[in-house]
Amino acid sequence: MEEKLIIKGNNKLHGEVCISGAKNSAVGIIPAVILSDSGCIIKNLPDIEDVKYLKELLLQSGAKVEEGNPGEMKIVSKGMRNYKADFETAKKMRASYYFIGAFLSKFGRAEVPFPGGCDIGIRPIDQHIKGFEALGAKIKVEHGVIKARAAELVGAPIYLDVVSVGATINIILAACKAKGITIIENAAKEPYIVDIANLLNAMGANIKGAGTDVIKIKGVEHLGSCEHTIIPDMMEAGTYMIASAATHGDVLIKNVIPTHLESVSAKLREMNIEIDEYEDSIRVRGEARPKAVNIKTIPYPGFPTDLQQPMSVLLSIAEGTGIITESIWEGRFKHVDELKRMGANIKVEGRVAIIEGRHKLSGSPVHVTDLRAGAAMVIAGLAADGETEISNLKHIDRGYENLVGKLKKIGADISRVEK
Ligand code: EPZ
Repeated sequence: MEEKLIIKGNNKLHGEVCISGAKNSAVGIIPAVILSDSGCIIKNLPDIEDVKYLKELLLQSGAKVEEGNPGEMKIVSKGMRNYKADFETAKKMRASYYFIGAFLSKFGRAEVPFPGGCDIGIRPIDQHIKGFEALGAKIKVEHGVIKARAAELVGAPIYLDVVSVGATINIILAACKAKGITIIENAAKEPYIVDIANLLNAMGANIKGAGTDVIKIKGVEHLGSCEHTIIPDMMEAGTYMIASAATHGDVLIKNVIPTHLESVSAKLREMNIEIDEYEDSIRVRGEARPKAVNIKTIPYPGFPTDLQQPMSVLLSIAEGTGIITESIWEGRFKHVDELKRMGANIKVEGRVAIIEGRHKLSGSPVHVTDLRAGAAMVIAGLAADGETEISNLKHIDRGYENLVGKLKKIGADISRVEK
């Protein structure tokens, strides 16, 4: 029987919510530990499906994994022998592509199926491949599997034609133990990249410039062990910020790095939402009806594409007309048809959505089309009149730890039921 979320809307969220470790860091950090000659202890891992799939991939590849306190995992990569990632597990998510960079570095060989993940547009990996080839790897694709091989990886200058989080991380993984120096130009600057570089440097790598658009990696022969705590999830935090604003709530979002959320805080302030930033928390109060604004998604530190769908809900109940321009993923408006079921007034033309605010949305059965669409549906349900029934929860489970528990704690009327 399928599980569904049932939300009775119109409750102001209030209280405190604690943010988990960042999914998009975790999914790079787990494969990065493969590079260690011994192993590492990782802390603050979010309890989400993507992390479970990565653990399965590690075990299938011969690593040993011990789970300690909640969010803690000891990964022993010493003795790993298998450079082939399991087809069924790898295709369940996007981040399995990091096993190409990690296996190439460790074994000089990698066989990894084409990755899966959210259906939000064409998701090429040409920049990853360009990077591996520049380092000396030969790549071919056979029967849906990417096969990479290198007798020796040698550092090289690599210019990314598009700013790509995944390609930046994957090239760092492959270059850490390559001979000589690799320089990645036009690199992505997301905090996840800094987090992963910090882990690798703690293991003994020599990476400079992570967080800027030029990253320099001097190859080292061995990487050792370390203990690393994953940064807070800025997309989870942003989701609760928008949920508080949409329900006229008053929520203190704890365990965050406020500077990671500056573009989101700035936009919410522009919408007349009150934001107070503290050292590691943000309070969001949405007393007044939000005012419509225009949003364009751009790579960090610009407004994140991953919060565009939740923001479209806030604009649907804002005063005035707002325009969203999605510049990263051309297929990230699939949630709009579902929002329309709830009464939203949105017109999509290509990469642009024009949203005319309504006073209220009305609860309805809706279907989740991808991870952040799921977050958008939940926020819409919390803000709407009446009952919203949300189906296809597998997307939400891939990226949000204990969503129902956290929302209940701040006053939401939400339950997960079998229907
Ligand atoms: C990461 O995806 C995130 N996923 C996504 O998070 C996020 O939306 C995205 O970065 C952008 O911020 C993970 O970290 C697992 P990209 P990634 O490579 O790395 C084009 C979420 O909701 N491109 O930065 O796959 C691509 O088509 C998700 O948590 C190429 O052309 O994204 C896109 O337009 C979903 N060639 C742009 O670059 C390439 O080789 C950015 O993609 C690679 C990318």
